[in-house]
Amino acid sequence: MDLQIRGKRAIMAGGSAGMGRATAERLAEAGADLVISARREERLVNAAREIAQKYDAKVTPVVADSSTEDGRRALFEACPDPDILAITIKPPNPNGDFLDLTPDDWRASIDTALIGPIEIMRHYIPVMKEKGWGRIVNIATFSAKNPMLWRLMSGPARSALINYTASVSREVAQYGVNINNILPGMFATEGAAELLETYAEAFGLEPDREVVTAHFREHNRIPAGFVAEAADMAPMAALLCSPLSRFIVGQNIVIDGGQHHSLF
Ligand SMILES: NC(=O)c1ccc[n+]([C@@H]2O[C@H](COP(=O)([O-])OP(=O)(O)OC[C@H]3O[C@@H](n4cnc5c(N)ncnc54)[C@H](OP(=O)(O)O)[C@@H]3O)[C@@H](O)[C@H]2O)c1
Repeated sequence: MDLQIRGKRAIMAGGSAGMGRATAERLAEAGADLVISARREERLVNAAREIAQKYDAKVTPVVADSSTEDGRRALFEACPDPDILAITIKPPNPNGDFLDLTPDDWRASIDTALIGPIEIMRHYIPVMKEKGWGRIVNIATFSAKNPMLWRLMSGPARSALINYTASVSREVAQYGVNINNILPGMFATEGAAELLETYAEAFGLEPDREVVTAHFREHNRIPAGFVAEAADMAPMAALLCSPLSRFIVGQNIVIDGGQHHSLF
């Protein structure tokens, strides 16, 4: 399927690893010129080089923390006029006892998982409106609609993010700017591997891969029967970034192997 994005300018904010990188790869493969950002430089630069070589694409790495004003400014300067904007960020680690969460913990979660994406969208929406076309995709989390006690630093801020996009997407669709969200379930990414120890701590387990995996399986039934790879969500992200998604507005697409059990 031709995604019809050859030559379009795309930002993948959070594009050096995991689902961000997998999305960047699909966009590069379809011929978009990419800017990818992340906080850690070495992995970012390597990812940009590898994607550029693999798909014969133009890929510019920008070291930028989406949760800070300085980081967002670096992104805006590197790519003033994208056609496509995909955003993902890493929220604070899984929490332990909810009674121990402080106002500072909540502020960190909100700065990262809510204000970061909102500020990036707020900057680029007028640019896309002016052009009469744009695509925005947030890669958030299924815990936005599937609350989890150990993911209070991720889910509530993302519930607010999808509330925001539900309203804003319906305002900007008339200008050809479509905003949608992907809500991933459990994916075996670099980011998930980094959480092994904090997950173990949150549940009082040994920080051992086998122990954590067994606990995880027992408490998270995934009807599809497996934990996904980042590449399992990237085709949907790429579709939402393309002109082919022109009638898809303000949706939250759960990709979780059926784990979240609901009608909508
Ligand atoms: N993996 C799962 O099972 C799972 C489940 C539910 C939801 N999610 C959500 O899905 C999203 C993607 O997760 P993932 O597992 O693919 O993560 P990942 O493997 O850690 O990849 C995240 C990417 O975003 C970058 N990034 C993170 N925070 C950033 C920030 N503040 N500013 C700029 N770049 C940033 C990372 O690079 P740097 O770290 O160098 O910045 C990396 O390139 C996250 O929002 C996560 O909460 C994941």
